[in-house]
Amino acid sequence: MKPIVIEARNIVTRLGENLIHDSISCTIRENEIYALLGGSGSGKSTFLREMIMLETPQSGSIHIFGKDIADLSLTEAQELRKQWGVLFQSGALYSSLTVGENITLLYKEYTDLPPALIHELVKLKIDLVGLPTHAIHLYPSQLSGGMIKRAALARALALDPKLLFLDEPTSGLDPLSSRQFDALIQQLRDLLGLTVVMVTHDLDTIHHTVDRFALLGEKRVIAQGTLKEVLAINHPIVDYFFQKESHGIQG
Ligand SMILES: Nc1ncnc2c1ncn2[C@@H]1O[C@H](COP(=O)(O)OP(=O)(O)OP(=O)(O)O)[C@@H](O)[C@H]1O
Ligand SMILES: [Mg+2]
Repeated sequence: MKPIVIEARNIVTRLGENLIHDSISCTIRENEIYALLGGSGSGKSTFLREMIMLETPQSGSIHIFGKDIADLSLTEAQELRKQWGVLFQSGALYSSLTVGENITLLYKEYTDLPPALIHELVKLKIDLVGLPTHAIHLYPSQLSGGMIKRAALARALALDPKLLFLDEPTSGLDPLSSRQFDALIQQLRDLLGLTVVMVTHDLDTIHHTVDRFALLGEKRVIAQGTLKEVLAINHPIVDYFFQKESHGIQG
């Protein structure tokens, strides 16, 4: 078995009065495309935000690359952050900057590379995610939804991370663009040896792109594993997602 990249154990999260996670655990291994699936409000984004150190659970532990993320010095935390890229749900590009400038910003913030080299790297990343070369000069408002996702992905990949976090990468995209984006994620995983963690509602993504996933519900992990393993579990939430919804998709 491949080495473990992320190990979350017994995570308990309270936000205000709300108990969001009541002891959730999951194990994500190198080179996997791993998804967090669950109904709206089941705490998927919150869990993702805890993994990337934007929020802190009340108890439990998260180890990434073997390090307990609750137990890092500032320098260690900064070093660890450089090893992952994040694609937020909205894309979160700066609207006043071009695609090229959006990506450049990251290199300026985290590296001392000379401008000419940064420019070459930006062009490479834009090419890597399948955007046309001229996209470097475009503003986010001039891009389609699919192109915005790709531009945000190019930025997430700027520092050559080994780990990629995606929050609802195909939401808002039409079915064809969604499948193309899924295919891109798989290609990049293979090409760059990435480990990918994504929050998704997209059952096509679960069926065709994801290796394993955790189904969140009732504040817990209802099921975890490959699609086949999860489907073998007898639980109303599993039925809800995979019988009702697949029935709906087939019309
Ligand atoms: N700052 C906060 N204070 C209190 N409650 C919050 C806060 N942020 C989120 N919540 C609540 O936490 C729960 C989980 O939110 P989260 O965004 O993680 O869900 P989600 O599974 O990502 O949902 P969606 O699929 O709609 O994106 C929700 O009930 C939400 O209302
Ligand atoms: Mg969410």
